[in-house]
Amino acid sequence: MTHAHITTWLIAIILFFVVNALLKSKKDKQAKITHMVLRLFYILIIVTGVIITVGLSKIDGEYIGKIILGILTIGMMEMVLAKVKKGKPAKVFWILFFVIFILTVLLGLRLPLGFWVFK
Ligand code: HEM
Repeated sequence: MTHAHITTWLIAIILFFVVNALLKSKKDKQAKITHMVLRLFYILIIVTGVIITVGLSKIDGEYIGKIILGILTIGMMEMVLAKVKKGKPAKVFWILFFVIFILTVLLGLRLPLGFWVFK
């Protein structure tokens, strides 16, 4: 299940950049459709995350932190796209997105399931 979780958020990140590029090049219709697919992937990220969480024997603070960061990452993607769509400055949200995303991945990898990048 951690593999499914990683697959869903990797695809979501790619779609996020695609939607951003489509919005920037004023391809509104394609952007709208891709954004809808991206939102479907948010649901899949949350569903796979919840399935992993339900299977845990003990949930500590690090897990709660990981879940909050995961949800915030999704929130920041939506904020960036909302600003780009309106043609407003999105710099602050881009920075927040990158910082929160990196923290989410680092904390995710630190936690015991799945890949052991850090011991
Ligand atoms: C874009 C958002 C997210 C990213 C980038 C992300 C990233 C990651 C990464 C890198 C891992 C480690 C996988 C491994 O070591 O095999 C992970 C695990 C996990 N994620 Fe997420 N995640 C996101 C959203 C969520 C959400 C929304 C939830 C909860 C509803 C969640 C719950 C979990 C849980 C419970 C684990 C298992 C931790 C462990 O014990 O290794 N994640 N995630």
